[in-house]
Amino acid sequence: MNEKEMILEIKRLKEEKNAIILAHNYQVPEVQDIADIVGDSLKLSQEAAKTDADVIVFAGVHFMAESAKILSPDKKVLLPVYDAGCPMADMVDAESLRLFKKENPDIPIVCYVNSSAEVKAESDICCTSSNAINIVKSIKANKILFVPDQNLGSYIAKHVPEKEIILWEGFCITHHRVRNSEVEAAKLNHPDALVLVHPECNETVVKKADFVGSTSQIIDYANKSANKKFIIGTEMGVLHKLRKENPDKKFYLISPALTCFNMKKTTLINIYNSLAFEQYEITVEEEIRQKALGSLERMLELS
Ligand code: 13P
Ligand code: SF4
Repeated sequence: MNEKEMILEIKRLKEEKNAIILAHNYQVPEVQDIADIVGDSLKLSQEAAKTDADVIVFAGVHFMAESAKILSPDKKVLLPVYDAGCPMADMVDAESLRLFKKENPDIPIVCYVNSSAEVKAESDICCTSSNAINIVKSIKANKILFVPDQNLGSYIAKHVPEKEIILWEGFCITHHRVRNSEVEAAKLNHPDALVLVHPECNETVVKKADFVGSTSQIIDYANKSANKKFIIGTEMGVLHKLRKENPDKKFYLISPALTCFNMKKTTLINIYNSLAFEQYEITVEEEIRQKALGSLERMLELS
């Protein structure tokens, strides 16, 4: 089967199975192009909660497909590559949170959606990079634990100074490695470009940015801006939409290290196999699902 035939087969299978393909902004261009919806973590969880498809093919990483299953338990949720995971999500576990709660029963836990169902189940509310500040502001307590991303956590702390945010030591292996010197070099090379970064980047990089936001917020900002040049501080997958939607603008990636190899594992063949053989099905134990659902629903209500 060549690529053209595969695309036709994917479309046929999608109809036959009443399936929807959701893809994250970090997916490879051909996967984004075949998807029904491409977006950031918030948009994708909103879509997963409201779709009437029977099958959701989630082109992303494990925690995203798991969130879709938590929100839509009666649907078959498929992750096309079984080991597409998020190393940051693995940096916190439910047992550590149970221990924390035992010692600090009055401190609510806010978890980034980049976390397992078990961690969501032990948390009070979830957030994504696009709503994190508002979610934390909405919490009554003055002190909260934020897991697992220390960089997003300190970004929130700067914007919600009235609260004390206890940080976890997790980080995104892709964003965290962007160096200050790389931002400086990019600014020197493109002095009239605006710097747009994801809050998963470290504090010194975030400080140098003209705009900080989720993947979709970065894309929106560039789409609406009158500026013609942008230095991009998030995973390279966003360049596809940015360039497609703004052929007259120039985009420069801060660092070639901004590639998430887990997000890049999914190809068209995986999407085809996923639909054809209904693989790899994501399941969540019902008791955990119920508790994790509470954290996700509280977030969606506030978004
Ligand atoms: P957003 O698309 O919500 O900005 O998420 C970024 C990310 O790293 C997902 O893994
Ligand atoms: Fe996880 Fe970072 Fe990859 Fe997102 S970009 S999936 S946070 S490792």
